[in-house]
Amino acid sequence: MSEAGLPSLREGYRAVVVGARGGLGRAFHEQLAADPRCGEVIGLARDSGPPLELTDEATIAAAAQAVGAPVDCLIVATGALTLDGHGPEKALGRLDPAVLARQFAINATGPALVLKHFAPLLPRQGRSFAAALSARVGSIGDNRAGGWYSYRAAKAALNQLWHTAALEIRRRHPEAVLATLQPGTVDTDLTGPYRGNRPALSPRAAAALLLDTLNGLEPADSGGFFDFSGNTLPW
Ligand SMILES: NC(=O)c1ccc[n+]([C@@H]2O[C@H](COP(=O)([O-])OP(=O)(O)OC[C@H]3O[C@@H](n4cnc5c(N)ncnc54)[C@H](OP(=O)(O)O)[C@@H]3O)[C@@H](O)[C@H]2O)c1
Repeated sequence: MSEAGLPSLREGYRAVVVGARGGLGRAFHEQLAADPRCGEVIGLARDSGPPLELTDEATIAAAAQAVGAPVDCLIVATGALTLDGHGPEKALGRLDPAVLARQFAINATGPALVLKHFAPLLPRQGRSFAAALSARVGSIGDNRAGGWYSYRAAKAALNQLWHTAALEIRRRHPEAVLATLQPGTVDTDLTGPYRGNRPALSPRAAAALLLDTLNGLEPADSGGFFDFSGNTLPW
């Protein structure tokens, strides 16, 4: 495993981390900033300058305009499991349309709007990455435990949106690699209330593994859903 960075990108590459104040987002930002081959890493968050609020497309558009091209690596590390005090549903009877809609807004629509505004900043020639943090529970094929309706459905939608965009984006950016990534169970605020005694990776270790995974992907892999070991996950 490399210490940090994306050695397959051009020398002096520019990276953007959205959600740079979160557990994983901060770790991505730190590791990219520590890569001597990285020319610039820009962290965006609700309180950054410019601010980026996932539910306000105008802030996403303004942030993309402020950042400008080229963006050789985009990492969307935002997300939420508990929203407005509503944790994951254990039973169908707990399904609340407002919570379901809000889960989609944060975990699917928001990242897709980030891709909408930042994809044009990917270089037309040369290797680039656009990754979003998804979750294994978004896999329908891997779902044997049930529960967590809204979060699962929103992450499945994110995977579909990213996959569909990859098919379109490869026409203009043939060497771009789009991927949704499963970080494993990581010790962050998001998982705190639900982790129990399960072993968890540190954000630093998870970010390093995911950067390694991303770095090893080829344009033919674009649109896929990968775990932190580089394995393809079932849809
Ligand atoms: N941790 C795990 O074990 C695990 C496992 C599987 C998948 N994931 C996924 O990994 C991603 C990162 O999770 P994490 O563990 O690092 O969580 P985290 O520490 O809670 O970070 C989530 C980040 O998302 C940002 N965010 C939430 N709502 C937003 C909004 N409306 N607009 C802009 N930013 C918003 C938060 O911003 P503020 O700081 O402003 O609140 C925060 O920086 C998520 O997509 C999560 O689903 C995590």
